[in-house]
Amino acid sequence: MAALKTLLLRGGGGGGGSSIASRVSRPHAASLRLPVPVLVPLESRRSFSASLPSLSSFYPNWEPNGPTVKTEIPGPKSRDIIADLDKVVDTRSLNMLTDYSKSSGNYIADPDGNVLLDVYSQIASIPLGYNNPVLRKAAATDEMISGIINRPAIGNFPPHDWAETLRSGILKAAPKGLNQVFTAMAGSDANETAYKAAFMWRRQRDRGGPDVDFTPEELASAMDNKAPGSAPLSILSFRTGFHGRLFGTLSTTRSKPIHKIDIPAFDWPQATFPKLRYPLDEHAAENAAAEQAALDEVDRLIATFPQPVCAVVVEPVQAEGGDNHASPAFFRGLRDITKRRGVLLIVDEVQTGVGATGRFWAHEHWDLPSPPDMVTFSKKAQAAGFYYADAALRPNKPYRQFNTWMGDPVRAVLFRAILDEIDRLDLVRRTARVGDYLYARLEGLAARYPGQLQNLRGKGMGTFIAFDNPRRDELLRRAKTLGLNIGGCGESAVRLRPMLVFEEKHADILLDVLEKVVKSL
Ligand SMILES: Cc1ncc(COP(=O)(O)O)c(C=O)c1O
Repeated sequence: MAALKTLLLRGGGGGGGSSIASRVSRPHAASLRLPVPVLVPLESRRSFSASLPSLSSFYPNWEPNGPTVKTEIPGPKSRDIIADLDKVVDTRSLNMLTDYSKSSGNYIADPDGNVLLDVYSQIASIPLGYNNPVLRKAAATDEMISGIINRPAIGNFPPHDWAETLRSGILKAAPKGLNQVFTAMAGSDANETAYKAAFMWRRQRDRGGPDVDFTPEELASAMDNKAPGSAPLSILSFRTGFHGRLFGTLSTTRSKPIHKIDIPAFDWPQATFPKLRYPLDEHAAENAAAEQAALDEVDRLIATFPQPVCAVVVEPVQAEGGDNHASPAFFRGLRDITKRRGVLLIVDEVQTGVGATGRFWAHEHWDLPSPPDMVTFSKKAQAAGFYYADAALRPNKPYRQFNTWMGDPVRAVLFRAILDEIDRLDLVRRTARVGDYLYARLEGLAARYPGQLQNLRGKGMGTFIAFDNPRRDELLRRAKTLGLNIGGCGESAVRLRPMLVFEEKHADILLDVLEKVVKSL
């Protein structure tokens, strides 16, 4: 029966079909001659995949055929440079000194001539590979050069074609149901500004609408950081969640104490994120109960927390906190509670967004009855910010959500080029397919080395896959010596965060190295 297991390559209605491709008319699938939809026997996935044009036909002579390890890492040249660098900056977080001029495609290079397959991708933030030729071309246009040397204060002096830049780029990728954007500068900034929008939205609602003015008492107390002007409101986040390290976001980040220690924080509520047990099909009832308990806790906290909860912020997969997943039903439950309680739902897609889960936005996996109120983005988008739809999320007066740059046109233009390339090469659908291939092979590896690949997770979630290993840090270290740059998260998770140009042939190299490493542990 296992031999008859089939893989559904999804057509227009799901999978990659829910990518930006479905929002713009572009005959990308036809140009790649993807037979959709089609049922492919599991065993023939590899040969089916091989029949698709490899990305190297779009990017000839782009990347090496495999990794090269010439020295230990860091090697002698890197060590010298790091010692010099350490004289001027703290290098203790340094993972690998990188020569970006020699890095290409899925491969990251160092000054000692080592070239590693990179499935960590600058903490999940490189979308289309190093030195992507199409992006290099986009970076050399007059539009880009002007953006670099004439960086505008967008809120005051937006470029004359800003609406067009947004519509043809950032907004083209807007999640279904959301048609506005506030641009920001990084993931933390995206979340932080989304929280501020939520607070202002809430106070405006309580006051009776946008035309009701602030009281003199509110204005005066705000200057003293006191209520009622500094509103005693809160954002609910989840234990082991991560939303950034700026002041506001840090109060909602609950992944590791080292991120928070010594920093003043808001007294805001946290709910338990369900801890699922794997394999999912063997623990269905127990997992459903854990999710229901978490939802009940959210509901109770919203009802009872002394500082009224304005918004719930959640990651589709808690990434930094250990790649913790929950089911679509859990997120639908969250949408239901937040709607019922008049609280906003902010979906933090900073790490999950832009295709890695096999859908353009990870929350597309949930089939929500109504869209999230805000969706934040950064990382692989290169641009950052939050999407929304409700006009009440624009503050009632100008300058309430404002800073000098308010994003960056250069990054917006780059995101537009990234989106065009994702469309042209159908990369979201490819990622869904490569992810299925990789997951199936990892299942095989987990069956052979059960103690080494525990709690394999991310099935059907593109390449957004993880597993736990009891000697995780040693695994990561040894992988490097065999030509693989791979990341960890949480206490013991190994997380796979390859780029959208990661193909089956790269997966084979990854699997080969992983097998060698786990055998040696
Ligand atoms: C889910 C999530 N939100 C927010 C952030 C913060 O983004 P940044 O580091 O760009 O501020 C991160 C960073 O890893 C993240 O993974």
